[in-house]
Amino acid sequence: MKIKTSVIICAAGKGERAGFGKNKLLAPLYGEPALRHTLKKFDIPEIDEVLVTSSEFDFEEISALAAPFGYKTVLGGKTRTQSVKNALALVTGDIVLIHDGARPFLSRELILNCIQSVKTYGSGVCAMPATDTAVYANLGVVSARIDRNSLYLLQTPQGFKTEDIKSAYLLAGDSSFTDDSAVYSEFIGAPRIIEGEKNNIKLTFKEDFDRGYPALPILDGKRIGFGVDTHCFGKGNFVTLAGIKIECGRKLIAHSDGDVIIHAVMDALLSASGLKDIGHYFPDTDKIFKDADSGKLLTQVIRIVKAEGFTPVNLSVSVQAEKPKLSPHINSMIENLSKLTGIHAKNIAVSAGTNEGLGFVGEELGITAYASVLMNKD
Ligand code: CTP
Ligand code: MG
Repeated sequence: MKIKTSVIICAAGKGERAGFGKNKLLAPLYGEPALRHTLKKFDIPEIDEVLVTSSEFDFEEISALAAPFGYKTVLGGKTRTQSVKNALALVTGDIVLIHDGARPFLSRELILNCIQSVKTYGSGVCAMPATDTAVYANLGVVSARIDRNSLYLLQTPQGFKTEDIKSAYLLAGDSSFTDDSAVYSEFIGAPRIIEGEKNNIKLTFKEDFDRGYPALPILDGKRIGFGVDTHCFGKGNFVTLAGIKIECGRKLIAHSDGDVIIHAVMDALLSASGLKDIGHYFPDTDKIFKDADSGKLLTQVIRIVKAEGFTPVNLSVSVQAEKPKLSPHINSMIENLSKLTGIHAKNIAVSAGTNEGLGFVGEELGITAYASVLMNKD
C-alpha cells in the first residue's frame, strides 16, 4: 500500500518582529507574498496533502493563496504548538512533515530527504551543525563551553510518523514548545537528525526580506534564453517576419526565407534549453534548408526542446527595422508565433522600432530581431 505523506505549513503567527504591520508571511518577497513561495515548494507529486494554519485575521487571504494548490486552510491557535495541534487533528497521511511558512528557501531535495528519513528511521528533523564556537553565558560572562561538534541548530521541515507526533501533541496538553522535535523528544523519544540547508533560514526580521539569496525561488525550475538575428536587404517585393508576408519593395537575403524574428526565437529557445544554436540543427550548407519555411523549423525546435523537458512560458521579441512599417502586423505575428510555439498569445509580446537613421538598420541595409524566452523545466 502506498505510504501517504501530509504536510502542515505553519502560517498562523502574527509575524510581529518583522514589523510590516501585518503577518510577515503576507509581505512581498520577490514580488509575491512570502508564503506563496513556501506553498509552491510542496506542490510536488511526493506530497499527497497539505494543510496550512492561519489565524482568524488572515484566514481569507491565506485561504486564497492555498486554494489554487488544492491545500486546506486550518484555523491555528495562540501558540505555534496549538496551531500544529489543530492541524494534526485533520491530517490523514501516514507521514507528516511540519514546516514553518516563514522558511521559503528550502529545496525539493531537503523535502525528499526528510520523507526518506521518516520512512527509514521513523523521524527526520532538519538541522545545521554549528560552525561558530558556542558557549553558555550568564550576565554577560561565559559560564560554560559547549562542544561545538555535538551542537546543532534546528530548522524545519521536521517529519514524523503521524500517529507518533499526534500522540505526543495529545500528551503535551496546553504546554507550549518552540518546535515539533521538542514535543516528540518529550513524549516519544529522540528524533533523528538530517542535514538541513544554509539557505533554509526563517524570515524573522525585515532585513531577512531584503537580502539577496543565491537560490532564486522564482526561477526554480525555470530557464531564460536570448537570441539575435540579422539579415540584409536585397532585391524583392516582400519580407517574411514571424511567418507573416509583408510588402516591402525588397526582401531579406538568406539561405532560408530570412525570417529574422523566427530565427531569433529559435536561438532563444535552444539557448534557454542549454542546446546548440540553429546553425547546428539547420546548417546553411544543407540544401534541405534552402528557401526553408522558418515556421516549419520553429515547429522542429519546439519538438527538440520539449524532448529535453522544456516548455516555453513567455516570449518577448523586439525588431529593429527602418522599413517596412510593422505596427499593423504585430497582432498577426503574435498569433502566428503562438500557433507555432504553443505559448498563449497573451504571453507573447512583439515590439518594433526604427533606428533613427543610425547604423546599418538606419541606413536601411537590413533588419535585426532580438528574442528572449522563459522556459519551464520539468
Ligand atoms: N505560527 C503559527 N501559529 C502561531 C504562531 C506562529 O502557525 N500561533 C507560525 C508562524 O506563522 C511561522 C512559524 O510558526 O511561520 C514560526 O514562527 P515565527 O517565526 O515566530 O513567526 P511569528 O510568530 O509569526 O512571528 P513573530 O514571533 O515575530 O510574531
Ligand atoms: Mg513567534
